[in-house]
Amino acid sequence: MSAISFDPARGVWLLSTARTSYALRVDETGAPCHLGWGPRLTLAAAGELRTPPAGESSSFAGRPAAGEELPVDGGARYGAPSLRVRFADGTRAFEWQQVGHRTWEPAPGTAELALEFRDRHYPLDVTLHYRVHTGTDVIERWTVLRNTGREPLTVLRADSAAWTLPPRDGYRLSHVTGQWSAEGLLHREPVPGAETVLTSRRGITSHHANPWVMLDAGDATEDRGEVWSAALAWSGSWQITVQRTPDGRTAFTGGAGHDGTALPLGPGEEHTTPPFAGVFTDGGFGAASRAWHAYVRAHVLPHPDELRPVLFNSWEATGFGVSEQGQRELARRAVELGVELYVVDDGWFGGRRDDTAGLGDWTPAEKSFPNGLTPLIDEVHRLGMRFGLWVEPEMVNPDSDLYRAHPDWVLHFPHRTRTELRNQLVLNFARDDVADWAHAWLTRLVADNGIDFLKWDMNRAFSEAGWPGREDGHDLLWTRYVQNLYRVIDRLRADHPGLRIEACSGGGGRVDLGALSRTDQAWPSDNTDAADRVSIQHGYGQIYPAGTMAAWVTDVPNQLTGRTVPLRYRFHVAMAGVLAIGGDLARWTPEELAEAAELVSEYKKVRHIVQHGALHRLRGPGDDGPTAVQYLTGDSQEALVLVWQRAPRHGTPRPVLRLAALAPEARYRDTRTGEVHHASVLMGYGISPELPIGDWASAAVHLVRVEG
Ligand code: DGJ
Repeated sequence: MSAISFDPARGVWLLSTARTSYALRVDETGAPCHLGWGPRLTLAAAGELRTPPAGESSSFAGRPAAGEELPVDGGARYGAPSLRVRFADGTRAFEWQQVGHRTWEPAPGTAELALEFRDRHYPLDVTLHYRVHTGTDVIERWTVLRNTGREPLTVLRADSAAWTLPPRDGYRLSHVTGQWSAEGLLHREPVPGAETVLTSRRGITSHHANPWVMLDAGDATEDRGEVWSAALAWSGSWQITVQRTPDGRTAFTGGAGHDGTALPLGPGEEHTTPPFAGVFTDGGFGAASRAWHAYVRAHVLPHPDELRPVLFNSWEATGFGVSEQGQRELARRAVELGVELYVVDDGWFGGRRDDTAGLGDWTPAEKSFPNGLTPLIDEVHRLGMRFGLWVEPEMVNPDSDLYRAHPDWVLHFPHRTRTELRNQLVLNFARDDVADWAHAWLTRLVADNGIDFLKWDMNRAFSEAGWPGREDGHDLLWTRYVQNLYRVIDRLRADHPGLRIEACSGGGGRVDLGALSRTDQAWPSDNTDAADRVSIQHGYGQIYPAGTMAAWVTDVPNQLTGRTVPLRYRFHVAMAGVLAIGGDLARWTPEELAEAAELVSEYKKVRHIVQHGALHRLRGPGDDGPTAVQYLTGDSQEALVLVWQRAPRHGTPRPVLRLAALAPEARYRDTRTGEVHHASVLMGYGISPELPIGDWASAAVHLVRVEG
């Protein structure tokens, strides 16, 4: 059976992935309706699926709020609309009329379905897109709107897709909330009989929520049970509305923009929403996460097969006090630890000696770098490391030459305060001249200095988001800003194919599938305290793979929390992602430097398992511990188990961890002890990793399959 099939007799489309099916049809009113999303079906079996009948039938009920592929504002619909438009004459209700459909294979192993509609009267085309790939159960969906008329119209809401879940009792919603330096707090709670809105109104993805959801019927565990989940590929404001209708159905709709934002669509203009991808898995939350991780590696990341280097970042070591001499000394120490990429963070440019000035003036500070960046970069390259640099292209300090020259380049309204956050204002990247200016200096900077890596930061939320001088600017900017941001990054990457980029927004403010599709790794949080980091990484890893999760080992007491955690524990926590070092190496003792060098070298032996393997959360954070994760290579040849035990209560038995998904008949050798274990014992009965007595105990167990 091909990946997309159609039963003309019943009008049913069936999307098939390796383990799942998704079925839909167009109903008698012309609206695209959902039939099923779950375990795999044949086309004949899918023909039996019916949209469940609505519970209440009265003049107040209207169409069921769950069960449509893109519920519109129009007709007797009273749920959360995925599509709301205002036509030139003020009319709002959209009426579906089917035009046709197309299926094709844009690339080997990829199939696409486009269902084409238009409004019955007004000049608006709406096309629903579905894409499936061999080797993943993730289904990508998005919507294309086209104004085919001669007058402008306004799109008040354009979600990428709505997803309907099969009728079940007791759905639960999993999602993350957070704040700066405390991102990724995982919640798992019953879906209320109401509308639940997850959103960012900040113009960025945000630290406060992340655009993904997982739903289960109240019975899934880490290892068992059905989970339906979806993630949005967009780095601006967004909204996902989950609804449980009064008649017990559950569905959610999601897309770019928050309440009150709108998108002007001029005559002949087309708007493509970002993808809102979804996956059904039957193997608990762990399987759902692994499905996302594999999908991100196969279809999102630009360089999935590379191993991310061990980097050093100067931020916590020097703050804004960056100088050529200081950086040379740090670089010399870093390379001795085995660092492969040396990154100079904030403070290297313009009048930037603290956060009050200089943003926007992207030339090396003369006092600190009298001969520019080249001598330092040459030295870093001579030491055998790659060179990376921090930039924050979307920002300006009012105390900067850029702002003095272009005060109109920032988001603002004419008669409103320009609210500063961290003493900075947001450049209006929606303006092509601003985006082109950013691209011009960035591409020059990278080319002139042979820069290998950029850390692209963004340190404040939008406020007074206006674009004076352009009639529809205040509405357009929410979308255009992100599109131009993507355009600048895409152009930059095309100019410099060897350039690698880290996505950062004051930590985890811009972690999403849109950002990851054009960067190589992300900075999940400014909180580098290893204890807090365990739960931040737990939240991050629900959707995003470890190979994108930068993790620094920094100094103690931790700058943010004041907590002192042993070096080994800090390393073991950071080894669960892309290991990096962010401490002031001048202050590390010779013993600490020696231990660090040993741990870096240990990490290099196992990073392919972490960065490219499958994650199994053996024991989550949240109780007395321990917390443990296991990574397994795709061929099951090697596994790495990381265990962190913060403060065990006296008398608690030593933890026994049952490993997952090993080759069942195989035996595995512990590379440290040399002991050989049967997979059947490791999985069925478990191991008890040797943890030192006392607080902050941690271990890394590397298992290699024994042949024969
Ligand atoms: C916020 C980032 O998350 C930090 O790592 C650092 O780069 C600072 N910005 C620099 O201003």
